[in-house]
Amino acid sequence: MSADIGLIGLAVMGENLALNMESKGFEVAVFNRTISRVDAFLSGSAKGKNITGAHSIPDFLSQLKSPKKIILMVKAGEPVDAFIELLVPHLSKGDLIIDGGNSNFNDTTRRHEELSNQEILYIGTGISGGEEGALKGPAMMPGGSPEAYELVEPIFTKIAAQVEGTPCCSYIGPNGAGHYVKMVHNGIEYCDMQLICEAYSLMKSVLGLDAEEMQKVFNEWNQGELNSYLIEITADIFTQFDDGGSPFVDVVLDQAGQKGTGKWTSISALDLGISAPTIAEAVFARCISAIKSERVDAAEVIKGPIGTFDGDREETLKAIHDALYAAKICSYAQGFALMREASTEYDWDLDLGNIALGWRGGCIIRAKFLHRIADAFDRNPDLPNLLLDSYFRDVIETAQPHWRNVISTATQLGVPVPAFSSALAYFDSYRSSRLSANLIQAMRDYFGAHTYNKLDNDGNIIVDKDGEPKVFHTEWMLENRPEITVE
Ligand code: 6PG
Repeated sequence: MSADIGLIGLAVMGENLALNMESKGFEVAVFNRTISRVDAFLSGSAKGKNITGAHSIPDFLSQLKSPKKIILMVKAGEPVDAFIELLVPHLSKGDLIIDGGNSNFNDTTRRHEELSNQEILYIGTGISGGEEGALKGPAMMPGGSPEAYELVEPIFTKIAAQVEGTPCCSYIGPNGAGHYVKMVHNGIEYCDMQLICEAYSLMKSVLGLDAEEMQKVFNEWNQGELNSYLIEITADIFTQFDDGGSPFVDVVLDQAGQKGTGKWTSISALDLGISAPTIAEAVFARCISAIKSERVDAAEVIKGPIGTFDGDREETLKAIHDALYAAKICSYAQGFALMREASTEYDWDLDLGNIALGWRGGCIIRAKFLHRIADAFDRNPDLPNLLLDSYFRDVIETAQPHWRNVISTATQLGVPVPAFSSALAYFDSYRSSRLSANLIQAMRDYFGAHTYNKLDNDGNIIVDKDGEPKVFHTEWMLENRPEITVE
């Protein structure tokens, strides 16, 4: 009964998190469904460390101090429910289960409610940073009751990455909030990766840069505003060569995998009615990459434009940099607008500036520019969209000509840049005081009597006596097409 925390699930993330907790002075008990892994861990990397193991759930739980804290590092979905079911009969009021996987926030909200009915505390925490982060300090996004968080705060804040003395871990909000924020982190991660891939594709197929040249470019970019973990590892990937001497990237199959968090982010954006096209494009880009053999066949029969690049290479390289930064800002703008809406919808009271600060270390999207997001929310905590903030407005204003040129070059040459262009379409839509949706409304009313609101001659919305927009319908099929007011 002396372990500070128990951990279930000894895949690499689980093992590394256990080692991280132990290295920060906490005694850890571990359990795994396949018992042999427990023994292998104890006689392997946990040997000589303050880590104990168990061969059964009761034995595992008997090693924990009260109130018992158990962190699950198992596959999201059914395994989480299965372990909760195994644990609950042995737990007492006030004990705490923590889910450290990439669970769907709806599952976390459900589990939170089910367990609070049984007076068991529950935390769903996003943990980002991969294997290395788990071992050396991840970013953590815990959600649940503040009372539950208090129990693990001393452990979490010690094991998390630290930036300027501040842990990359703070309480996110109730029930599924932590997993929601991690999900959006991953949606943004998909965008960051896709944008880097589009920059790479332009450098390679338009400018003809080789791996060594690209390594230099990404390294240089990593010294500026684009400084981030993903840019850094991209530069590093270009230093890797295959046994046959080819650049490593050239021999990797161009078929991207995905586990679902980007898709969930897009689904949530659709559910909440928030425009997040660049996140969705990044998911779709992975989907179209996945149909490799179909693409190979299509390439045989569908021809694109013929032509070669005849612009200025140096100038275009700078333009790609600016396009990447501008599009990146748009994808973060979408992610933060989504979290803002979710916060209202689910009553989470998310602190968006703090979330940006928490992502500065440990996580996959860690980046220098994240403090700019925190600064923007400091300037205006109610900022509806990052694109309105003075810093981001200025960056995009400067980057805009380059951004448009890059997309136009790619389009002319038939190089797909779905995330660069969808971010630009988002930007152009967001800054348009009048879109073409008036015609959509007219068509909806025409074929389905879906009604519409109207503008007066000064361009103001026509309102009723309560100040609400007046609802109109045109009788399209009648002679003279009379317009009626719908009450
Ligand atoms: C992180 C990563 C991590 C994992 C993703 C990969 O923050 O540490 O996001 O959670 O690498 O699940 O997701 P895909 O397999 O969908 O790319």
